Amino acid sequence: KTVYVLNGPNLNALGKREPGIYGGMTLSAIEDDCRKAGDELGLAIEFRQSNHEGDLVDWIQEAGDKAAGIVINAGAYTHTSIAIHDAIRAVSPLPVVEVHLSNIHAREQFRHVSMIAPVAVGMICGFGPLGYTLALKALADRL
Ligand code: DQA
Repeated sequence: KTVYVLNGPNLNALGKREPGIYGGMTLSAIEDDCRKAGDELGLAIEFRQSNHEGDLVDWIQEAGDKAAGIVINAGAYTHTSIAIHDAIRAVSPLPVVEVHLSNIHAREQFRHVSMIAPVAVGMICGFGPLGYTLALKALADRL
């Protein structure tokens, strides 16, 4: 079974981007963690990042045909994207787990709303990179 791990805008800058909030780990180190977790859980990992909303929509549609589930950190599009919300609805019942490195509820008001949460099976936030492997474990349990 394949799980798509999708990352949105500015996550390519992890490691140098606001390390006080997001930590010092790069996205490629997170990818390595996900591959290790995938090996242990028997899941193939398709790991991607884009700064463009439409790419995320395309990949969610693609996952609808090819994947058993999705882990998504949509970055700031989490708070704004009806297109991503609709794309997830359109691939239902494909399970989607939402991840954020930071605890979005302990930050600015504009981060408290998620367009993804209502169409996700669950959401993990505030645990840094560990959230990705927790999300993979949660998906593996479900699949
Ligand atoms: C984030 C939280 C978002 O509010 C922010 O826009 C990001 C990263 C996180 O992983 O904590 O880009 O999704």
